[in-house]
Amino acid sequence: MARRSTSFVCQSCGAVTAKWVGRCESCGEWNTIVEEQTGGGVGGGPGRASRSKGRVIPLVGLSGDAKEAPRIQTKVPELDRVTGGGFVRGSALLVGGDPGIGKSTLLIQAAAQLANLGHKTVYISGEEAIGQVRLRAERLGLAQAPVALAAETSVEDILATLEADTAPALLILDSIQTLWTDQVESPPGTVTQVRASAQAMVRYAKKNGTTLVLVGHVTKDGQIAGPRVVEHMVDAVLYFEGDGAHQYRILRSVKNRFGATDEIGVFEMTGKGLQEVPNPSALFLGDRNTSAPGAAVFAGLEGSRPLLIEIQALVAQSSLGTPRRAVIGWDSARLSMILAVLEARCGVRFSQHDVYLNVAGGLKINEPGADLAVAAALISSLSGLALPANCVYFGEVSLSGAIRPVAQAPSRLKEAEKLGFDQAYCPEGNLKDGTVSSFRTTGVPELGDFVAKLSAEASATGQT
Ligand code: TYD
Ligand code: MG
Repeated sequence: MARRSTSFVCQSCGAVTAKWVGRCESCGEWNTIVEEQTGGGVGGGPGRASRSKGRVIPLVGLSGDAKEAPRIQTKVPELDRVTGGGFVRGSALLVGGDPGIGKSTLLIQAAAQLANLGHKTVYISGEEAIGQVRLRAERLGLAQAPVALAAETSVEDILATLEADTAPALLILDSIQTLWTDQVESPPGTVTQVRASAQAMVRYAKKNGTTLVLVGHVTKDGQIAGPRVVEHMVDAVLYFEGDGAHQYRILRSVKNRFGATDEIGVFEMTGKGLQEVPNPSALFLGDRNTSAPGAAVFAGLEGSRPLLIEIQALVAQSSLGTPRRAVIGWDSARLSMILAVLEARCGVRFSQHDVYLNVAGGLKINEPGADLAVAAALISSLSGLALPANCVYFGEVSLSGAIRPVAQAPSRLKEAEKLGFDQAYCPEGNLKDGTVSSFRTTGVPELGDFVAKLSAEASATGQT
């Protein structure tokens, strides 16, 4: 019989310690260590029985038979784009997001869509009663879709039910935090339980060629709560993001064994569920005020998709000894760097000013290519002169002040052209690889050059 023992497990990162401590030494979180029972069974903790005799497995060469992973397309283009062309059979996905962001809505819509296309689909809710799921389906106009539904949290019961019939093509478990298995003794929601339950379900999915979708909640600091360990077990991790103030939601792939990462799908939450947004740039630029100083349009790239985003800056006289710098939607260290380069290399002073930077629409960008647009917005706000309404900016600024080329300049410009822009400031290095002909592109090698060109442009239009 397996030996039972207790250990102390961090609920944030899964690290195991011998005794209780107030702060996890592995991830630095406070009050996340919980005593858990381990030993025997699926958990495979320290109490595992002695090693059994293994069998000999054949070793093969790198070349040989290899098939493209078979996929099931949902025919929801935004969803298929993020998964890399459809759900892969026998793979496991984790969909994370804040509570209330729309994970259950997205997945019930995907389930109904696949069921309507003739794939066997099972949706198991551990959070909501059957009545609640039915109400939502009715509201979404999906009540007639042949989705098999259950409200259950026991892994053993779920597996017994699934094994009694043919394996489904798609299995959705909403959510992983509610599942529990009697193979381990920890309470539901703990790392040990989540790991053991996920492992059992992933094993089922691999064995039967089922696409498994696990829903996971995200904590306020952006980590999938508890089961960070689950991220390693699944083939793809998708985050569903957005904020309360806006109706749109972004599904982003942060890990994908069968496709590109950083790919995004854009949806809008409406009274009738999530609708796809085929042209997100138009949505993000929708309520733009073109005559206000401090706004610059960044021609960005999310995964393989070009996206136009408005960057807003406010530079105001400061009454504080140490002026304020506040950033929403971008990296604050990156802002400090751009301010320092502007001061040191271009002689533009911000030391007496508070600086606020905002990425419009609540979007988060982490592409260094936004540097030039940020610099443009800062200079525009400092000088009080609006930038031309028909112009986009992109380019990475280095510490020396040089503007480095960025990837996929032509597709950025094409997207801008589609939305009626006809002028661009971009790295000089990008002009060599051919650009859109109808564009008036200005290549800039140095940030100093860029600042000079902006002020020349302002005086030429009489805005001095
Ligand atoms: P839900 O899918 O339950 O979120 P999660 O599973 O991520 O916790 O979404 C709940 C929110 O979505 C809720 O605030 C109401 C809103 N909503 C709509 O605006 N329209 C709809 O058609 C539906 C079903 C939900
Ligand atoms: Mg939900």
